Amino acid sequence: MSGRNGGHMKFFLDTANIAEIRSGAELGVVDGVTTNPTLVAKEGKPFRELILEICDLLPKGVVNAEVVSTDSAGMMREGRELASWHPNIVVKIPMTRDGVRALYVLAGEGIRVNVTLCFSAAQALIVAKAGAYIVSPFLGRLDDIGQDGLVLLREIMEIYTANKFSTQVLAASLRHPIHVIEAAKMGAHIATMPSKVLEMLFKHPLTDRGLEAFLKDWEKARETLGEITEPAGARARQGP
Ligand code: E4P
Repeated sequence: MSGRNGGHMKFFLDTANIAEIRSGAELGVVDGVTTNPTLVAKEGKPFRELILEICDLLPKGVVNAEVVSTDSAGMMREGRELASWHPNIVVKIPMTRDGVRALYVLAGEGIRVNVTLCFSAAQALIVAKAGAYIVSPFLGRLDDIGQDGLVLLREIMEIYTANKFSTQVLAASLRHPIHVIEAAKMGAHIATMPSKVLEMLFKHPLTDRGLEAFLKDWEKARETLGEITEPAGARARQGP
């Protein structure tokens, strides 16, 4: 779980890559992971092993693992199996009619379901009514076809707030920092992003330029200023 601001917008990494998750977890800003069949297939490892490795890396995080059946009975079977692997797993189910049937049953059994591939406010309304724990509107993929993904996110936030739905809104398919910032402004509960987008959030050219100037000035005056820390081992040699 990230930092100390537990109640605010959560960041998930949209990857199944262990190295990326490990390095994100070290930053203290990653609250979970979203995987999907495409991301998992890239890693070339058995699915269960991979998901459990991710759970170990984020002991307090949420790990989303997706079913691949398309009929409701198959989704229910896979959903129960995935949920049994680790208590932190949330089961991802696609937004189809069968998916909603499976969601309703699994939610009734206390299994947390993230409904994925949501592209309309109507779909978001349906899954909230059926008991989804999370809904994932895909912003970037809407942008890709010339529709504004942020408009959809705003609609969903409005509907969920007006109706007091407890389903969490996970802004997905994020391509750049503006998606993340706008989602945060709207109060989306979670933003999932590739490591590349997380890295972009850190960057500003004026930070780099400012730091370079600070260090150059310090270097010029170094002899007078001395060192902030003593060289390693110096204190031990000097004694207390
Ligand atoms: C969300 O859970 C999905 O894995 C993801 O955000 C898809 O994003 P893409 O459009 O970049 O593949």
